Amino acid sequence: MELAPFVVCPETLGPLEARDDGYWSPRAERLYPVREGLVFMAYPQRDAAMIAETMEEEHDWQGSADVAARNLEYVRANAPRAIDFINMVRPLVAGDGRCPRALELGCGNGWVSWLLAEAGFEVWMCDFESNSLATGLNLVHPNLGDGRRFVVDARYPPIADGSMDLVVFKEFVHHVSDHGSLFREANRVLRRGGLLALMEPVRSVRQAIYEVRHPDPHKGHHLTSARNYLHSIRAAGFEVIRQAYVYGERSGQGRLAARIRERAVSAIDSSHPTGDWFTRAHFHLVGGAQLIVMARKEGEIEPLERPPMTAISPDTLDLEDQDLRPYDEFPAVLTEAAARLDR
Ligand SMILES: C[S@@+](CC[C@H](N)C(=O)[O-])C[C@H]1O[C@@H](n2cnc3c(N)ncnc32)[C@H](O)[C@@H]1O
Repeated sequence: MELAPFVVCPETLGPLEARDDGYWSPRAERLYPVREGLVFMAYPQRDAAMIAETMEEEHDWQGSADVAARNLEYVRANAPRAIDFINMVRPLVAGDGRCPRALELGCGNGWVSWLLAEAGFEVWMCDFESNSLATGLNLVHPNLGDGRRFVVDARYPPIADGSMDLVVFKEFVHHVSDHGSLFREANRVLRRGGLLALMEPVRSVRQAIYEVRHPDPHKGHHLTSARNYLHSIRAAGFEVIRQAYVYGERSGQGRLAARIRERAVSAIDSSHPTGDWFTRAHFHLVGGAQLIVMARKEGEIEPLERPPMTAISPDTLDLEDQDLRPYDEFPAVLTEAAARLDR
């Protein structure tokens, strides 16, 4: 396996040297082992307890054989929205005379990354849960070859400054308490003029009230309002060039609520991606849609300090070949969905 020259040590951002058993960071004096096509990297020492807890939660949620059927249903239902998202992103990103480079942070098994590859991006992926990444090893693509899947805290991607044309956050930002620092990292890895693309659930007033009595059972969730996301993106050196809402499947709503929602959705079209005042009020108060933001890097900002890190052991990968078999259907489902990508 060969790494691209801009893949660096997540702790020091220094160079990596190829060894028989992985990649050596001379500055951090640490080996990043390779196993099953995954490069096992690191996370901040200070966050060890929080990371262990959330890794375990993600392993149970999406990184085992038992949940393959549910994950496949999720991808089948959500691929159309992801494709709309990628179709919005694609015309906004150029590759400076080469194939544009995309980095997906918090990629899970990487199904969105595979669609990005299919849409013409060279793709690199980061997630800290090795089993989740491994369930996507059958998502093969020439633009997603060896040395692209990193087991790492995606708050500190192992990518040199200014190397990427696109950074994608697809339902990842709400897993991080300090979302501002994520957007600052996106600024660091993007070249000037590069694009940050985000598709995230946000906290509506209704949800905030609901959660007073029914707290979110997921320990690692930190949903916030669209306003907060937009504020932090601008503060990280970006100009917001597009903002939109997408509503998914209707679930368990009464007829009146459904009609109000239809009124909100009907005002969204390609020339009014955020709808009218009623749509915006509905989105803020009732929610149920995902926020899409496209933002262009305008200038450099002060980089984050990199904390001392701890290696992620390859032993965290505990899936056997037979555990991966329930994931065999994913490539066909995605190939079918990808027919709607604008080429
Ligand atoms: C809701 S999933 C989204 C996966 C994928 N982007 C999608 O749209 O299906 C969030 C992902 O973020 C990962 N994650 C959460 N916190 C992380 C962190 N600090 N570093 C790396 N990955 C993280 C989880 O393991 C999980 O795969």
